[in-house]
Amino acid sequence: MIFKNVDRVGWDPSIQTYLNDGGYEQLKTALGMDPKAITEEVKKSGLRGRGGAGFPTGVKWTFIPPNNTKPVYLICNADESEPGTFKDRYILHQDPHQLIEGMVITCFAVGAKVAYIYIREEFPEAAIILEKAIAEAKEKNFVGNNVLGSGFDVEIYVHRGAAAYICGEETGLIESLEGKRAYPRIKPPYFPAALGLYMCPTIVNNVESLCHVKHIVQMGGDEYAKLGVARNTGTRILCVSGDVKNPGYFEVEVGKVTMRELIYDMCGGPKDGREIKAVIPGGSSSKILRTDEKFKLKNPDGSDREITFWDIPMDFDSLAACGSMAGSGGVIVIDDSRKISWVLNNINAFYAHESCGQCTPCREGSTWMRKISDRLVAGLATPMDIDTLESVAYQIDGRTICAFGEASSWPVEAIIAKFRDELIADTRVENALDPANPEAAAQ
Ligand code: NAI
Ligand code: SF4
Repeated sequence: MIFKNVDRVGWDPSIQTYLNDGGYEQLKTALGMDPKAITEEVKKSGLRGRGGAGFPTGVKWTFIPPNNTKPVYLICNADESEPGTFKDRYILHQDPHQLIEGMVITCFAVGAKVAYIYIREEFPEAAIILEKAIAEAKEKNFVGNNVLGSGFDVEIYVHRGAAAYICGEETGLIESLEGKRAYPRIKPPYFPAALGLYMCPTIVNNVESLCHVKHIVQMGGDEYAKLGVARNTGTRILCVSGDVKNPGYFEVEVGKVTMRELIYDMCGGPKDGREIKAVIPGGSSSKILRTDEKFKLKNPDGSDREITFWDIPMDFDSLAACGSMAGSGGVIVIDDSRKISWVLNNINAFYAHESCGQCTPCREGSTWMRKISDRLVAGLATPMDIDTLESVAYQIDGRTICAFGEASSWPVEAIIAKFRDELIADTRVENALDPANPEAAAQ
């Protein structure tokens, strides 16, 4: 559905190709509807945000204050930066009009006359493709004044990001869009739906989420909700990277595919002679899962059922019940050739580099965590360092302005809880005890 045109033979991102394929028909349908009815269909569809948090999209739209007199804005979050996630870029590069159609319908539904696509700095080609696509859409009057004679005006602008992970955090993004440093705001009170861009109501949705809107208009909310499973409806793109034979992106019905089907049937299983030992299921911020773990899930009648790692359905609620999250759909597979201390250090290096520095637990803590895991991979850490690392992670968790604090500490907490023995095996007790060891003394 969403990736229908990605890598499609004979497809190009021009408006003519999109129109030949029935493009912008759903916009015409939507313009004939009551805007509130569109929001109602999106609510009925059960669509949950595909950026990572899985918040119900239609419900978010209703958070615009009812007596609002200020302008309303729509922001498309195209700052895709979560390690392991590579889905939105394909839509931007290959099917920009699907996004634009979804955005114009959304603007009509929420009463926004101005929309921004905040695109990460590292996608320069996509920004050019989008600008061309918006110009084409304006020429055909799908964007601009009096869209298709409906009396509805809307403008869409592309805004290049500032090459920082935190610019994808919605309030950091808004600050950046306002021309300031991307310091996240405290939520509440600054939930963008009420107090967003220029302190006006602002709906921030991910690229993939906005594309779904057009399909919901086409199918109707009830029909769309038949895709997937209860509370986890529709399709979503899973991006699989790491130690499998055929990594790549896969559009699946949410919850209809298990970890086994994804990794073995779709990705060809582990590389020859290797065994998969762990998976990070929803981008680097999600908690790692061991392949030998067992979990309890709830049956529809409320009873419990025990499942293995391989039977986990790939949906928001199941992954949350297994102590992790579906997040942005970035599935990172780790086999037995990888040292878990290396994985840990790689993650720590990323978050230490990307912390915006606004609050102390995150700024200092992420750097301390990286320093400790640097020592670990260099063979200079002591077993006590693992305890210190764990303690630092728990002191960041829940004590920061934005969710970056948890994003940096959850992976550390989970890796230590599940792979403590492997980490301890990489430490050197003798370094701590030998005063003649100059490197240990330097610690
Ligand atoms: P969140 O749960 O705080 O918010 C989700 C959305 O619901 C936001 O738009 C928020 O404004 C809205 N919301 C929640 N409660 C609300 C309320 N009471 N009133 C009004 N609006 C409300 O999550 P957040 O911080 O937006 O996203 C975190 C997720 O982002 C992580 O789980 C991670 O998976 C993902 N992520 C994705 C990245 C990517 O490249 N796609 C990059 C980094 C993180
Ligand atoms: Fe910045 Fe980290 Fe604080 Fe978020 S948690 S505001 S990224 S310092």
